[in-house]
Amino acid sequence: MTVEHFFAICPRGLETLLANELRALDAQGVTPEPGGVAFDGTLGVAYAANLHSRLASRILWEAAHRPYSSEDDLYATAHAVAWEANFNARQTLRVDLTATRAPLRSLEFATLRIKDGIVDRLREKTGDRPSIDRARPDVRVFAHLDATHVTLYLDLSGEPLFKRGWRAEKGEAPLKENLAAGLLMLAGWRPARPLLDPFCGSGTIAIEAALMASHRAPGLARSFSFEKLEGFDRAAWKALLEEAHAQIDDQAAACIVGSDISTRVVALAVKNAELAGLKSWLDDGRLSFSPRDARESVPIGEHGVIITNPPYGEQSNPKSASVPKMMANVGDRLKQTFAGWDAWFLTSDRALPRQMRLQETRKTVLFNGPIECRFFRFELVEGSYRPRSAALDHGTGGG
Ligand SMILES: C[S@@+](CC[C@H](N)C(=O)[O-])C[C@H]1O[C@@H](n2cnc3c(N)ncnc32)[C@H](O)[C@@H]1O
Repeated sequence: MTVEHFFAICPRGLETLLANELRALDAQGVTPEPGGVAFDGTLGVAYAANLHSRLASRILWEAAHRPYSSEDDLYATAHAVAWEANFNARQTLRVDLTATRAPLRSLEFATLRIKDGIVDRLREKTGDRPSIDRARPDVRVFAHLDATHVTLYLDLSGEPLFKRGWRAEKGEAPLKENLAAGLLMLAGWRPARPLLDPFCGSGTIAIEAALMASHRAPGLARSFSFEKLEGFDRAAWKALLEEAHAQIDDQAAACIVGSDISTRVVALAVKNAELAGLKSWLDDGRLSFSPRDARESVPIGEHGVIITNPPYGEQSNPKSASVPKMMANVGDRLKQTFAGWDAWFLTSDRALPRQMRLQETRKTVLFNGPIECRFFRFELVEGSYRPRSAALDHGTGGG
């Protein structure tokens, strides 16, 4: 297989971790950029990235990279690509475009010209025009314009990769699975360490943790766009799947607990965990979910870690007080009963440390979709209820 250029998209703030994941999959020329990571490799490496990356949202295969100054240049670039080598006119198509500092008046018109270039090329080469399907296309082309260059990509993923194929229903404001995996990695969580999510909602963080602990490839329960492309290497894909199945370790030791004040979302979390293939983990208690108010959380062992995404704004749940007041009580509870633990909170509310009367020892800026968030780390010091002021020593990033 020849070496190709790819771009892996991820939530902003996780680029460095994604670069590490890609290097471990034998990607070359790995270069983090805002919102993703460029890399080189064979198509086999790109298949593996789709199957194994816990952080990427999509893997894109670069088809063209050219200078442009007008919509006609975009048409010519799209028309010059041998799309017929990868898909045919019976497959439905969708074109998406993003731009930074593009010198064109209408991005809608730019998208249309790129789509025309692709469609005309296929009609000339095959005699047929593909139809456009924005909802469930077989093939997606992504175009990116900067001030001087257009890059065209063929999407290899299809549904975004954070859709692992196991989610039944969503609770309130669920995290995307790749952001949840990113939180676990940023916190340096290892399965040997007890993990508690006291605001677990539909269970995303706890389920991602159990999938990591069991070495289950996140893409094992879904399909990908590249399987529909011409030239799909079925034998290479089968070998990757067999290897991924052989890596699963369902006996791995772990202690992962999720709780939430809402019994409805706790039931959802259990259902999601079952659908994710973690029934044996639920049965023997290595993964568990229970209804509980976070103000009454109890440690599940020593020197564990809390990784959580508390509510923000006013609560819809009438059992809960206003969020700042509740978080003050949660802060007291942590100081009193979780000495020796680390606690990591993802929130868009910069006042959270003040509300909890805790001093963060680290904060990282992350984006939950378009929402700018902080991932705060608090070290819960043994033998003291008082916040540590010296703890600021190793603060990083963020504003
Ligand atoms: C932002 S959501 C968490 C979403 C979760 N990370 C997921 O991916 O589904 C916040 C959760 O906090 C819960 N909650 C609100 N007040 C609570 C309290 N006092 N104790 C425990 N859970 C609470 C809500 O029911 C909601 O599920």
